[in-house]
Amino acid sequence: MRTCWINGQFVPESEAKLSIFDRGVLFGDGVYEVAAVFQGRLLDADLHLARLTRSLGEIGMPAPLANERWLEVMQELATTNGIDEGLVYLQVTRGEAERDFPFPATVKPSAFAYARPKRLSDDPNAGGIAVHVVPDLRWLRCDIKSTSMLAQVLAKQAARAAGTYEAMMHEDGLVTEGGSSTLWMVKDGVLHTRPLSSDILAGITRDVAILLAGELGIRLEQRAFTVDEARSADECFLTSATSFVLPITRIDDAVVGGGTPGAVTSRLREAYLDRACRLTS
Ligand code: PDD
Repeated sequence: MRTCWINGQFVPESEAKLSIFDRGVLFGDGVYEVAAVFQGRLLDADLHLARLTRSLGEIGMPAPLANERWLEVMQELATTNGIDEGLVYLQVTRGEAERDFPFPATVKPSAFAYARPKRLSDDPNAGGIAVHVVPDLRWLRCDIKSTSMLAQVLAKQAARAAGTYEAMMHEDGLVTEGGSSTLWMVKDGVLHTRPLSSDILAGITRDVAILLAGELGIRLEQRAFTVDEARSADECFLTSATSFVLPITRIDDAVVGGGTPGAVTSRLREAYLDRACRLTS
């Protein structure tokens, strides 16, 4: 059985339980992070923990443990559970209290984490995925990595029902994000992704991809693009901590870039994998 971690203790999965009065359950009052495990080691966990600190601050929640301790917990989960490639998920909720919308006067955050395997270097989707266009139904603080995610649940369910892998969410025709990923397009050799704002999550993989694009001499324009532009782009792809760089070869019925991964996408995926290998060996 898998070993998980909850409120300071490593326990078997069957003992990792939260109260029905936990505000994470009642209100989705919490934040989370997902970091990759590659070659058995955490990848960019420090960057994910910096974003966790920011998310906690934005919702006025105290940090339940120091980031150095989080790093130990996350690595131990990966090691104990024998994860070579996969992910560590962690979540902090405001804690357990009688149901009342404002923050309770005294409440202690709940924290938990688990690890699970996922194929990363030989991702079965690396040959290209399809996305389904849906309206972005989310709130106005998408920069906070909140566990209130009903809009993404519905978006990704609609994507699955349409026989696709991920949602392409848009606001008035402008692409915001994937259901759980950052979206990109390449047009005439120029890489495009939406600029950071409260409309999107500041993806850690987005930051790394921007860095790698710079190193590879790929031109970048941070601007919002439309669903129509994406449909007629030369290449589209998504990024996330647990997908790295994945080519998008179809947007609903529109085939993108001839239906195969494009050169820029492939170079970025390769550079991302090279960097991951370097950082974890
Ligand atoms: N999702 N945008 C959204 C809405 C996301 O949920 C995610 C990540 C990203 C990409 O961020 P990053 O590169 O830091 O992983 C963008 C995680 C993986 C998840 O919910 O499982």
